[in-house]
Amino acid sequence: MCGITGIILKKGNAAPLVYESLKRLEYRGYDSAGIASIDNLKLYMKKDSGKLDEIHKKIDLTDIPGPLVIGHIRWATHGYPDKINAHPHTDCTKTIAVVHNGVIENFLELRRELEEKGHKFITRTDTEVVPHLIEEEMNATDDLYTAVLRAVRKLKGSYALAIISSSEPDKIVCARNESPLIIGVGKEGMYCSSDIPAILEYTNKFITLDNREIAILTHDGVSIRKIKDEQVVYRTSFEVDWDIEQAEKQGYPHFMLKEIHEQPDSLRDALRLQEQYLDLVTTFLDRGREIFLVAAGTSYHACLAASYMFSKLAKLTTYPVIASEFIDRYGDAVGIDSVILAVSQSGETYDTLKAVDHARMRAATIIGITNNVASTLTRVSRAYLVQQSGPEIGVAATKTFTAQLIVLAQLALRLAKIRGKISQDEIDELKEKLYRMPEIIKETIIMTEEKVKELAEKYRDKNLFLFLGRGISTATALEGRLKLLEITYKPALAFPAAESKHGPISIVEEGVPVIFIAPYDETRKDVIGNIMEMKARGAEIIALCEEGDEEIKGLADEYIEMSRDIPGLLSPIPYVVPLQLLAYYLAVYNGLDPDKPRNLAKSVTVP
Ligand code: M6R
Repeated sequence: MCGITGIILKKGNAAPLVYESLKRLEYRGYDSAGIASIDNLKLYMKKDSGKLDEIHKKIDLTDIPGPLVIGHIRWATHGYPDKINAHPHTDCTKTIAVVHNGVIENFLELRRELEEKGHKFITRTDTEVVPHLIEEEMNATDDLYTAVLRAVRKLKGSYALAIISSSEPDKIVCARNESPLIIGVGKEGMYCSSDIPAILEYTNKFITLDNREIAILTHDGVSIRKIKDEQVVYRTSFEVDWDIEQAEKQGYPHFMLKEIHEQPDSLRDALRLQEQYLDLVTTFLDRGREIFLVAAGTSYHACLAASYMFSKLAKLTTYPVIASEFIDRYGDAVGIDSVILAVSQSGETYDTLKAVDHARMRAATIIGITNNVASTLTRVSRAYLVQQSGPEIGVAATKTFTAQLIVLAQLALRLAKIRGKISQDEIDELKEKLYRMPEIIKETIIMTEEKVKELAEKYRDKNLFLFLGRGISTATALEGRLKLLEITYKPALAFPAAESKHGPISIVEEGVPVIFIAPYDETRKDVIGNIMEMKARGAEIIALCEEGDEEIKGLADEYIEMSRDIPGLLSPIPYVVPLQLLAYYLAVYNGLDPDKPRNLAKSVTVP
């Protein structure tokens, strides 16, 4: 997730405005930033790595001339977050400048074709193909809009683009597919940006750009067309009356709720990992004598879920380990044939890095999965995957958990394929469902949010919650419980449902809410037995079950219905969503701030 802004003024210098706008986009990334302008048929550009204010102190981003300026704030996905990979990117002639948010999936093949035609690439980014493609098209059309149109028709993946050229200093051309882009209509000029807050200071009148649309912004208007057939789009503007603080959360009262709702988008991005990196990591996993899945907190729950996926799909035994326990438990056993798959959203968690360090010293292969390409974890990993969720502001991990699961599921399916342990039909069926997850999550939020609010109201005063599941749903139960206790401060327990009788059931008494994660998978029959046991002790049963599962609904005091036909192995992805919402609303109804839970930090970098 990056942020882009473009401004074209009737008169004056637009750079200071773009700089202010980038400050508001910093929540979308802070690895590097840059800005480009056109003045007197000349392209000016400044960019560097680091945080926006540090860069500005160094090179004064407001000090470039011209009424036509684009800017970018980067959350690196392709290429290290250094100066050279910072946006804007340019073509060979340095007349075209491009800022981009998204992932160009076919950039490697496009780059190869363009290099064969003589284009010189200087960065490791996916974005750099865009200015070169436009340059190539400009040879044939000599018209920026047409060149951009033809170029974007060749792109696969997601993009929000703002493009300027010194040969046409009266316009910004924008295009969008699956990455947000909004157009601002102002008295002093026209604006485009990744979101409303970034340009709210300049206008409160907006037009949305939809997927597969292209727009030309001049200082006094905008024209929009469909990329496919150039059909003209007539769209009226709308006004917002948000203040800046509301606007940063895009109308949501808290970042946590915004991030829960962002999951369809973050999952789409997590599904766009580059094939060759997935293949590389899969090969390392396949070669290991033993695989340790090492992580803390929510990331550990993702690892636990993944251990079921690896086992059932690829028949591969893996050992999920809480990072702080790794050295004491397995430290002496780790060696050159071990693979450590370390999962850390921040890539900076002390316990995880310490475990990784220990394993490295013993010559183990380190693989990282993280949301932070510039983290310590990526530096110490032999190979790594970046989940591409963008910054997560809420301390409670939500969108980064489901994205981790998406990445891990992709690895499990690849391993299943190369190890030939399940049929191609089974792989295809699961893959199809995995690629539908963004839609399924959207549906889940729509289906469950109101019901969850009702439940949060009903149970707001309860002081003990139990979360139970079997099989892979144990991981869902543990994650639901962690969400609830970390932001509501209410004691909660989670364990595999069958463990109840070995002790925990003794704390159950009349009215204790017990949340059962009960997808329609092979554990369901046994889960029904566990529901009966709890019911017999007076527990209030809240079942998370498939839509139309009358048997479970009939046993439960309350139920939350989920979409049908979710394969058990992928069920943690949608099933955790109502649990995230439940924790959120319980915190809010108890007057707590879910974004800032007491005693917790987003990234735990101390022992
Ligand atoms: O950055 P990491 O994924 O390594 O962080 C691990 C845990 O600190 C983190 O998941 C923590 O448990 C969250 N607060 C959970 O919501």
